[in-house]
Amino acid sequence: MLIRPPSDILPSEITAPDIYRERRRFIAQAGSLALAAALPASHAHAATGSLGPLAASPLSTAEERTSRKAITTYNNFYELGTDKSDPAENTHRLKPAPWSVRVEGLVNKPRTFGIDELLKLAPLEERIYRMRCVEGWSMVIPWVGIPLASLLRQVDPQGSAKYVEFVSHYDKATMTRGVLDWPYTEGLRLDEARNPLTILAVGLYGEVLPVQNGAPVRLVVPWKYGFKGAKSIVAIRLVEKQPITAWMKAGPSEYGFYSNVNPEVDHPRWSQATERRIGEFSKRKTLMYNGYAEQVASLYSGMDLRRFF
Ligand code: MTE
Repeated sequence: MLIRPPSDILPSEITAPDIYRERRRFIAQAGSLALAAALPASHAHAATGSLGPLAASPLSTAEERTSRKAITTYNNFYELGTDKSDPAENTHRLKPAPWSVRVEGLVNKPRTFGIDELLKLAPLEERIYRMRCVEGWSMVIPWVGIPLASLLRQVDPQGSAKYVEFVSHYDKATMTRGVLDWPYTEGLRLDEARNPLTILAVGLYGEVLPVQNGAPVRLVVPWKYGFKGAKSIVAIRLVEKQPITAWMKAGPSEYGFYSNVNPEVDHPRWSQATERRIGEFSKRKTLMYNGYAEQVASLYSGMDLRRFF
């Protein structure tokens, strides 16, 4: 299986030399300026850094945020390479603008949204979320986004819609071949998708989402393992039957549809009881639903969480 078992991740593993960081900052700024100059004003947000004034959210955690550097250099984005450092080095393989997201399937008002239109659906909020990866590490990430529920309201789901499927961009000319069954897909039950915690993220640390984190728009579901958060989404489909996700296809006995953070259900090859917060040395106990039980436990009442893992 490709998702690696938990290893002891030392801060030194994620700390690139200062020179590298400076170079990247320069390239990013130069790239943004060039892109901003080339684009019509309506696309300028896709190229500029700051996302402007952000509403604070009561759903944010007050825990210490993981450094921007760790969040943007320690990534899983297999289309851009399978090593943690690959996505940040291969950002040229994905062009996040222009971009649009099709919302289709069992909806009364199917529609394609440009990024500008997504940004207008709801006030942009900063959501500081604990994120936990099935590999055994965690981060605290200050996302910027809108509730997925705001988008779903616009398309008016039909009564028969029970699940939502998310499809990531895939270009075989520039992206990884093999490894997973592309395009990368994920899925949620409709009530999970409508939960106020579920967001479409367009930024982090107050700025436009970096390519390696799933630019220009990705899913963030903080009570589930990080892999539920499909990156660089091009289609959102309302469907009747539970979708089969990319990870379920790759390892059905290891990655179930629900993928809720649950310290009581081991991954078949390792325990999920503890985690290492990136930047810290000692391990922490993993919390049920990643600490979001109060908001989401009721979604799963009566379900056998060993069967529906
Ligand atoms: N989305 C796409 N399209 N491709 C991927 O490989 N990896 C997933 C998820 N979304 C992945 C993806 C996994 S395994 C994780 S842990 C998170 O993205 C990582 O998100 P981050 O790099 O922003 O922390």
